[in-house]
Amino acid sequence: MIERRRFLSLVGGLAVAATPLAAIGPAWARPSMKVHHDPSCGCCEAWVAHVRKAGYEARIEVTDDIDAVKRRLGVPASLASCHTAEIDGFLVEGHVPAEIVARLLAERPAIRGLAVPGMPIGSPGMETPGMAPEPFRVIAFARDGRTSVFADFPRGWGG
Ligand code: CU
Ligand code: CU
Repeated sequence: MIERRRFLSLVGGLAVAATPLAAIGPAWARPSMKVHHDPSCGCCEAWVAHVRKAGYEARIEVTDDIDAVKRRLGVPASLASCHTAEIDGFLVEGHVPAEIVARLLAERPAIRGLAVPGMPIGSPGMETPGMAPEPFRVIAFARDGRTSVFADFPRGWGG
């Protein structure tokens, strides 16, 4: 089982590497995203800087009740993180790497969105000097609540 999981994460890694941003078109043709977050969220703004650097246009929508926004949009409570982004019909919850957003837009699976639950140390926007990156997974969630692993970062992001 472990071997199979390792193999799958390797295949996932290769698929990620093989999906350049160019696959979803030039920057001017890329869909923009709307990012909902709490006014006091510093790591949210760090994540926005990360996706902007990758070429995405991001509009920030500050809200005093982010939990209500998550409920309205349909983010499963068990997968919640800090910010919630909307892009081209998908939700992106938490510190999802921009390269994985690119893969989502290129593959367009029949899901509601992707989530990195919690706030893993070292994920984009959660880089913490002196602290080792934590392993994390990007979870795909469907409208009916079903989930699956979309990408696996067993050594953390950039680790
Ligand atoms: Cu955060
Ligand atoms: Cu955030």
